Amino acid sequence: MENTEQISMPRIGDLAPDFEAVTTKGKIKFSEFAKDKWTVMFSHPADFTPVCTTEMSGFAVRKSEFDALNTELLGLSIDSIHAHLGWVANVKEKTGVYFDFPIIADIDMKVSKLYGMLQPNESETAAVRAVFFIDPSKKIRLIMYYPLNVGRNMDEILRVLDALQVSDKHKVAMPLDWKRGEKVIVPPPKTLDEMTARMADSSLDKIDFYLAKKELL
Ligand code: BEZ
Repeated sequence: MENTEQISMPRIGDLAPDFEAVTTKGKIKFSEFAKDKWTVMFSHPADFTPVCTTEMSGFAVRKSEFDALNTELLGLSIDSIHAHLGWVANVKEKTGVYFDFPIIADIDMKVSKLYGMLQPNESETAAVRAVFFIDPSKKIRLIMYYPLNVGRNMDEILRVLDALQVSDKHKVAMPLDWKRGEKVIVPPPKTLDEMTARMADSSLDKIDFYLAKKELL
C-alpha cells in the first residue's frame, strides 16, 4: 500500500533547514558550515553498497573541481558513524580513493526527513540519491533526486553548480546543455525601448528579441 505520510520537502528558493549532526569529520551545525561558500549536500542509500561506492568515489576523485568552485561537499546516509568509518577505510584500502569530506551519520533519520531524502514509497529505511545545491546565503538553489538503482552523473552535478554561479555573477541564463565557454542568454527586454535596442544590437547572437545570446568575456 502507498505510504501517504506527509514529509518535509524543502523547495528551490527556500532557506536550507538548519540541523546539527555527527559526521566523519566531527560534529557540525549546518548554519555554521561552509561559511561564505557553496555547499553540495548529497545523500546515498547505504554504506558498503556498489552504486553508492562508485558515486562517493566520484565525489572524492573530483573534489578539487568543487574546491575550485568555492564549494564544500557534505554527504549523508542513514548509517552509523562506525559504518561510515569502516566504509571510508575499506574503499581507501581497496582502491586508494579517500572520501575527504564530511559524511553525516543520520542513523536517527533526522536530517533525511528534514530534507525529504527519505521517500518511503522508494524505501522506508534508506535515503534516495538527493543532491542539494546551497548558496553561501544558505538558500537552496537546485535539487536533484535519483532513485536507489540509478547513479548520478558527476559531469552534470559540476555543470549545474558552475551554471548557477556564472548565472549569478553575470545576471544571465543558461541554455540547454550549457557548458563553460559557451554563449549565455541575456535577459529578455522589459520595455519597447529595450526591445528596439535589443534588435539593433549586432553584438548579440539573436533568434528574435526574446532569445539572444552573448559570449562572456
Ligand atoms: C547501491 O548503492 O548499489 C544500492 C543501494 C541501495 C539499494 C540499491 C542499490
